Amino acid sequence: MNSPISNTLAPETLAVRAGQERSQFGEHAEALYLTSSFVFENAAQAAARFSGEEEGNVYARFSNPTTSMFEARLSALEGAEDCIATASGMSAIMALCLAHVQAGEHIVAANGLFGASTQLFNNILSRCGIVTTTVDATDPDAWGAAIRPGKTRLFFLETPTNPLTQIADIAALSRIAHAQDILVAVDNSFCTPILQKPLQLGADFSVYSATKYLDGQGRVLGGAVCGAKKLTDEVFKYLRTAGPSLSAFNAWVLLKGLETLKLRIEAQSANALQLARWLEAHPKIVKVWHPDLASHPQHALAARQQTRGGGIVSFEVKGAKEAAWQVVDACKLLSITANLGDVKTTITHPATTTHGRLTPEDRALAGISDGLLRISAGLEAVQDVKADLERGLSMI
Ligand SMILES: Cc1ncc(COP(=O)(O)O)c(C=O)c1O
Repeated sequence: MNSPISNTLAPETLAVRAGQERSQFGEHAEALYLTSSFVFENAAQAAARFSGEEEGNVYARFSNPTTSMFEARLSALEGAEDCIATASGMSAIMALCLAHVQAGEHIVAANGLFGASTQLFNNILSRCGIVTTTVDATDPDAWGAAIRPGKTRLFFLETPTNPLTQIADIAALSRIAHAQDILVAVDNSFCTPILQKPLQLGADFSVYSATKYLDGQGRVLGGAVCGAKKLTDEVFKYLRTAGPSLSAFNAWVLLKGLETLKLRIEAQSANALQLARWLEAHPKIVKVWHPDLASHPQHALAARQQTRGGGIVSFEVKGAKEAAWQVVDACKLLSITANLGDVKTTITHPATTTHGRLTPEDRALAGISDGLLRISAGLEAVQDVKADLERGLSMI
């Protein structure tokens, strides 16, 4: 029994209803199909399924009904024709790049990307003969100047960036790229389709670490690539052969995560902004980054492109690494962990954790100083989070 849902419904409706395929048992919640393979009625059906002549599940590396429900729900929220789920955010980025970029071709990427994404471009894709040039995410002219005619195949950006929440102009970069037949991929992990819809702004792909806000409760790894079917088909071919597929269990957890996504991310954005305003007025702080602050360098663009600033606040304390570590170590409530997007507020020292493998030069290029701390606002009362931070800040 299926429940057909129109993708024109409001996001909060799609988040709880879209994509569900009920079995003959009429279960109310989405079913978890923990099976690695699927049986066929006869040899002819097996052959037809394998050749693609008949639609249907074959083997969980290719597809699984629970994973398909997650993909359909995320597609509906994103306004995408299709979505391919992957085992993690990094495997989503890897799958997208290897599906669409070949040896000898070129990628232009933002220089403030999540650390592992930069590593992937510089140290792994480079070994496959794919060269990447990094540019300032906020300067469209730099992207245009970095194009190698006939060679550049992909613009890869993240907006807002991690951890400095720099905003790239998705519409402007898409226009520049499309004029030369270059694809545009946006890592939308920070905003989710609730706050920003990259495809509507002109991008070809919206890519996720579903591990972040889509799960939202720090339970599972996951990733996704959303876009037009003719483009995601290539990602699917890579996935079914190379195998970084999302497990059905993780897909089921992520389906449940999507149901509360809008409530969570809006509340977390509001909490982050309250914290950002408090930090901005704090005497021990050098600078604060949150897209909803009037002082944010791309505040106007963020207001145009996103419905809210998101749950990430970064700030630089007076006194570099020693002081930053003091603030982290004084926390009794906040979790000292690299994950973000969780309902529990987390605190990270990017220079020695998420961005610790970058060379000092790359870190400086990304604007990550030793005094920088990143907070991912959760759902606790803001006064309790402030009190936890104040303990360390008062010691500086
Ligand atoms: C913006 C961004 N993209 C991608 C990733 C990688 O995702 P995953 O850890 O799910 O592989 C992360 C992880 O923190 C991230 O913050």
